[in-house]
This record gives sequence, structure tokens and C-alpha cells, in this order.
Amino acid sequence: MKIFVAGGTGAIGRPLIAELLAKGHALVALTRSREKAQALVEQGMEPAIADVFDTDAVKAVVSRAQPEVVIEQLTALPKTYTRESMRAAAALNNRIRLEGGANVLAAAQAAGVRRYLRQSVAFYANPGPGLADEETPLAFSASPAVAASAREITELEHRLLGNPNMEGIVLRYGFFYGPGTWFNPDGDVARQVRQQQFPIIGNGKGVWSWLHIEDAAIGTVAAAERGNPGIYLIANDQPLAVREWLPAFAQWLNASPPLQVSVEDALKMDGDADSVYYGTQMRGVSNAKAKRELDFQPRQLEWIVDTAVLEA
Ligand SMILES: NC(=O)c1ccc[n+]([C@@H]2O[C@H](COP(=O)([O-])OP(=O)(O)OC[C@H]3O[C@@H](n4cnc5c(N)ncnc54)[C@H](OP(=O)(O)O)[C@@H]3O)[C@@H](O)[C@H]2O)c1
Repeated sequence: MKIFVAGGTGAIGRPLIAELLAKGHALVALTRSREKAQALVEQGMEPAIADVFDTDAVKAVVSRAQPEVVIEQLTALPKTYTRESMRAAAALNNRIRLEGGANVLAAAQAAGVRRYLRQSVAFYANPGPGLADEETPLAFSASPAVAASAREITELEHRLLGNPNMEGIVLRYGFFYGPGTWFNPDGDVARQVRQQQFPIIGNGKGVWSWLHIEDAAIGTVAAAERGNPGIYLIANDQPLAVREWLPAFAQWLNASPPLQVSVEDALKMDGDADSVYYGTQMRGVSNAKAKRELDFQPRQLEWIVDTAVLEA
């Protein structure tokens, strides 16, 4: 298939492009940069140079590409995963997804694109017992920033899934780990864990669902090729509470065990309840639909090598 990728030079875009090329698809990848465009040519695809906020330029490059499928992976994430950097990046990141994404979607519609896939996240299912699935409502009553993210995601997802002219597919990814992510040994969370700056909060019962960045690429290509319109949760088989994954992650990094802080202290340090949500309330997600419909077979988390670590 001919596929247009927006965000193809980012952390998930790089393995995604490699997987699409390996599967024999013809690619056009969007970038703002002439240097990255040259690298895309060397990898065997056609670059499309445009800023996603430039409505006319985006329309022109998509129209020229005439793709059958568009995959949108646009983000503006910071190099570090701290409260301050995430807050500072939030406005641009939201704008890229809302305004930038709207431009790509409108351009795709004008070009008669058949199928459109977009990135979403699995972190905002309403807290509750067991694993969330694609039908679980989002956490609209959580802390202010989490609730705002849940509303934004709903808007993005509805905009695509409510479009009658396209097969819309939403990919709600788990926490990315692997090369180019904050959770790689050279990434920012690993740095914070080594410095004991990434604590377990309260009971540590917030459940995180994980996804290796290369499994994200494999799941996305499967969805592009044979997914059904709608939402897929793409995550691995090991949803783990912070009190399970974080000590194991620290041990894998040869770091000291994480510190523990009370909810009250976390609220004092944080100023709002977001880190408490991630640390104590977040709900893991089920990948059953992706397994059933996409034959998704995610790998094991590399830092959970010994289940005894979890039982300790
Ligand atoms: N879960 C995780 O741990 C995780 C996941 C992803 C990223 N990260 C971290 O986030 C940081 C940033 O990662 P990254 O640099 O790979 O970026 P990224 O956020 O993964 O990807 C950004 C993508 O969006 C595109 N983009 C952004 N603004 C655009 C615009 N105005 N017009 C057109 N395209 C636009 C970029 O294209 P061009 O730049 O080519 O124009 C790039 O392809 C890194 O430190 C990475 O470790 C962490």
C-alpha cells in the first residue's frame, strides 16, 4: 500500500518506518527538516517537507503523495520526563495533536484517503478493578491535568472515528519503552531512577501497561493492513503496579531501590494530583482485542527477568 506517515522521524516513527518498509509498503514521510528528508531518501522513501501547522503545505504534500493510508504519530515531547518539562511541553504537544492533526486529517480527506490511523494513549482509562478494555470510559473525574488529557484524547478520537468518509483506527499505546524512550537505560527515567528521584508514591498500586517501541510499530502495521475501524489498546501482557515494576527496573539498572513517599508528600511536592494518579490509581489495560484481531504478540518486559523479583 502507499502510506503517508506524519511523525515518521520520531521515537515511534523510526521503528514504524522500518517495519513498513520491511513489509514492502511504499512510503511518504513528513518532516520539517531538510537533513531528515535526505535521511528518509537514503532509507528508501519519499520525503514530504512541511510544517504541520501550515495548512496549505500539508494539503499540498498529501495531495501530491496520493496515499491509500495515513498514519499520524505527531508529538512534541520533551527530552526529559519531569513534571516541569512535561508541563512546559504540554501546550505545544496539545497543539500539534489538535491543530496539526486536524490539518493532516483534512488533507487526507481532501485527497480521498481510505484509511487513517492515529496515535492515542492507554493511560487514561477510568480507575477501577481489573484491566480496562476499549469500551471502558476514560478518567474524566481524575486530577485536573489527567482529566483534561482524557477530554483531549476523546476529542481527537471522536474526530477521527466520527468521520464517515474514512476507516478510522485509533491506537491507544501503553507506556513506550526501548530505544529512544525515557525508559531505555540511556533515557531520562532511567537517569532519575539511578538518582533515586523516581519514587513509589503511597501504596504504589497504580498499574502501568507497557509497550516496546518495536512492538508498537508491529501492532501499528498490523492495524494498517488488517485492523477494523475503531479503537485498539496496544500494550504487552504485563500490566504491573508501580511497586512491582519500579524496584525491578531499578535492579535491572543496578541502581539503589526507589524511595517511597506518602501521597501527602507527593501532593506537596507536585502541587497537583497527577503523579498520585500515575502512582496509585492508574489502571492497566487488556490487549485481548489486538491479540484476537491483529494477532498481536508482544515481547516480555526485559527488566522483569525473574518473577521472584515481583514476589519479594
Ligand atoms: N514513552 C517514552 O518514553 C517516549 C516516547 C516518545 C518520545 N519520547 C522522548 O521524547 C523526546 C522527543 O522524541 P523525538 O524527538 O523522537 O520526538 P517524538 O515526539 O517522538 O516525534 C516527533 C515527531 O513529530 C514530528 N513533528 C513534530 N512537530 C512537527 C511539526 N510542527 N510539523 C511536522 N512534524 C512535526 C517530528 O518530525 P520532524 O522533527 O522530522 O519535523 C517527529 O517525526 C525524546 O527525548 C524521546 O526519548 C519518549
